[in-house]
Amino acid sequence: MASKALVFAEQNHARFLDELKALLRIPSVSTLPENKEDCRKAAEFLVADLKKIGIENVGLIETEGHPLVYGDWLHAAGKPTVLIYGHYDVQPAEPLDEWLSPPFEPTERNGNLYARGAVDDKGQVWAQIKALESLMKADGKLPMNVRVLFEGEEEVGGEGIANYVASKPANLKADFALVSDTELFAPGLPTLCVGLRGMIYTEVEVRGAKTDLHSGMYGGAAPNPFVSLAHIIAKLKDEDGKILIPGIYDNVIPPSPEELKAWKSLPFDEEHYRETEVGSKVLVGEKGYSVLERTWARPTLEVHGMPGGFIGAGAKTVIPAKAMAKISMRLVPDMTPAKTFEMFKSYVEKIAPVGVDVEVRLLHSGDACLIGVDNKYVQAATKALHEVWGKDTVFIRSGGSIPIVGDFDRHLGQPSVMMGFGLPDDNIHAPNEKFHLKNFELGIQSLIRFLEEAAG
Ligand code: BES
Ligand code: MN
Ligand code: MN
Repeated sequence: MASKALVFAEQNHARFLDELKALLRIPSVSTLPENKEDCRKAAEFLVADLKKIGIENVGLIETEGHPLVYGDWLHAAGKPTVLIYGHYDVQPAEPLDEWLSPPFEPTERNGNLYARGAVDDKGQVWAQIKALESLMKADGKLPMNVRVLFEGEEEVGGEGIANYVASKPANLKADFALVSDTELFAPGLPTLCVGLRGMIYTEVEVRGAKTDLHSGMYGGAAPNPFVSLAHIIAKLKDEDGKILIPGIYDNVIPPSPEELKAWKSLPFDEEHYRETEVGSKVLVGEKGYSVLERTWARPTLEVHGMPGGFIGAGAKTVIPAKAMAKISMRLVPDMTPAKTFEMFKSYVEKIAPVGVDVEVRLLHSGDACLIGVDNKYVQAATKALHEVWGKDTVFIRSGGSIPIVGDFDRHLGQPSVMMGFGLPDDNIHAPNEKFHLKNFELGIQSLIRFLEEAAG
């Protein structure tokens, strides 16, 4: 028999979707100073709805950056407590001209809702809140004790929430965390994510001459910081993507034989992935490892952009005084961000060509995490997912990072159930981000049934 909350969710689905669209119209891009007020507006939007549905002690928690949103409902004596987490900030929408409909005007097309943040992560946060509303309205109470904690800086490293979790663990006391910010392995396939990569995000700045110079008058004598930077970058990885920083692989723990075996039986078609998701001629990466191993269980290094010099239309003959590269690394257990950054920095300083000054800065970092699956909350999750999706759950890792998940484990002693409803082709961080509307609906149902099951 369907729970009353499921019926409520079905009857109110059109309104849930309209509300999500209103949230998506707020451009809460956490990295852009001009969107600071929009981030606060998105936070206040969540506060208002949490109050409306009957969550208590709802309010903003100020940080040095964008505010956290907190609320709780702790009246289920004898029942476990869940800490529900998600993020209301989004990545920048650029390049704008590649969007088929404007990023902050949510638009329905072919069974999908298109908007920046549709699935990462406002749509999934909304699914969590609407699951709580359905339970509250249908039953007059929640099946277990609930704390919610949403942040607005996940996409820029999550410093505010990390400080809060480290300094006020008692305020977040719970038996487990529920994180909805991940994806299904394939359409229609219920999935729990049990591992994330960590990261360090750096800037390498190279300075040559004291000022920009005429490249005819000085070319041949003055150092060019872009060329120096190119030499540095070329020495970071070999042609197969193996990172050349000495000792970098020393702390990498390989996945267990059981985990590797399970990954082999996942429905993964490398050729389909190359063609439809990546869209490149070939895939690259370390020899001897499968795509899933390379993206889930191996450290990687990427260059994101090289600001500086002349990038306008046309030609300018100049030797720029400085050049910069934004470079990040993804980390796997048991690499630590601090030690990895130290290794990266000293290697870059060592290989820097003569004649230029190099500065290596750390912008943000986060730990990798691995979640154990032998607890009753994971059992409850697979049961709930089976009811809603009609299939057994697959356990996967993800190459992405959610910095705070490791801290839930380390500082709060809470295992996370990472139950997310994105799809591999949802274009997160890219133009035309979408949330498959069926997944929004089934996501709400899954979260309702999970909270009921986990309550015992
Ligand atoms: N939700 C993603 C992480 C993710 C993506 C998990 C795909 C599972 C599947 C998250 O919002 C994200 O993008 N994180 C950033 C974190 C970084 C900026 C610290 C990332 O991974 O780049
Ligand atoms: Mn996310
Ligand atoms: Mn993201």
